[in-house]
Amino acid sequence: MKKTTVSTLLLGTLFALGSQLAVAAPDWTKVPKRDINVFHPGVTPIEWVGKKSDHSGTAGLKKGETCAGCHEEKGSLNFNFKRLADKELEPKGAPATMMYPVGVQAAYDASSLYIRLTFKTPAAGADKTDKDNEVKTTVMFPDAKVAQAAQVGCWAACHLDAKSMPGADDKKTKYTKEGSYEFMQWRSAKGAKVVDGTVTSERKMDGGVLGAKAEGAKTGDTYTVTFTRKNPGEGKTVPFGIAIHGDHAGGRFHHVSLGYTLGLGAEGDVKAVKQ
Ligand code: HEC
Repeated sequence: MKKTTVSTLLLGTLFALGSQLAVAAPDWTKVPKRDINVFHPGVTPIEWVGKKSDHSGTAGLKKGETCAGCHEEKGSLNFNFKRLADKELEPKGAPATMMYPVGVQAAYDASSLYIRLTFKTPAAGADKTDKDNEVKTTVMFPDAKVAQAAQVGCWAACHLDAKSMPGADDKKTKYTKEGSYEFMQWRSAKGAKVVDGTVTSERKMDGGVLGAKAEGAKTGDTYTVTFTRKNPGEGKTVPFGIAIHGDHAGGRFHHVSLGYTLGLGAEGDVKAVKQ
C-alpha cells in the first residue's frame, strides 16, 4: 500500500515536470553558447566613430568593414582600454572592469525568437544613478533603413548630444537620423515591467512591436536573462547589439557589444536553433 502511494507521488511529480518542460520552450541544453564581449565605450558615439582624426576605422567602415571585423581578436576585443578610461574619452570616470563576456544563446519556434544571456556583472561601476535597478539588460535590433545597420550595431542610435553625454541636454534621448531600432529591456527591480521600445527621432520606452517578454534571475553572482520576442522570420539574418547596465549604472554607463548578427536558419554570428 505504502509502495503504491510513493510511486503515484513520483509519477505525479514526473508528469508535473513533463508538462513544465513542454511549456518552457526552448531546451537550452541543446543550444550552443557563444561568448560576446561587452565593454565600456566611454564617449565614442557615432560622430566620434565616423571622424577620421579621432578614429582610424573611419575609412574601413565606409568600405563596408564591421566594428567586430576590426576589433574582435582571439575571442577578445583589441581596444586600448587605457584610452577608453582616460579623460579624453571618459571624462566622468571609468568602471573598474572595462570588458566582460556575455554568454549568448538563441532559439526559435514558429511564433517566437528566444535569446538567453548569461553573465556576471562586475562591481565598482563609475555611475550609480539608477537607484531602483542593480541591472538592466537590453537587446537592440536596427531595421534595414538604419545606415550601416549590420556593421555598427547600436552605434547609429548613440549620439554626442544625447542625455548623459558630457554637456548634453538631459532631455534628449537616443535617436536615429534614418531608420529605427526596436529594443527590449529587462530590469532587475522587483515587479519592473519589461520594456518593448523603439528608437526613431526619439526613444520610446513602450509601444514597440516586438511582443517582448523577459525573465531574469541571479544565482550566486551570475545573471541569466531570457528574452522572448516575435519570430522575425525563417531565413532571416537579424543584426543586433547588447547593452548591460550593471551595478546601478544609468545613461551611457553601460557595457555594450559591437554589432553582431543572428541567423534564423541563415548565416549569423549567433545561429538560432530551431526547436
Ligand atoms: C577598419 C577597421 C576599423 C573599423 C571598421 C572600426 N574600427 Fe574602431 N578602431 C580602429 C583602430 C585602428 C583603432 C585604434 C586607433 C585609432 O582610433 O586611431 C580604433 C579605435 C577605436 C576605439 C577607441 C579605443 C582604442 O582602442 O583606441 C573605439 C571605442 C572604437 N574604435 C570603436 C569602434 C566602433 C564602435 C566601430 C564600428 C562602428 C569601429 N570602431 C570600427 C579600427 C577600426
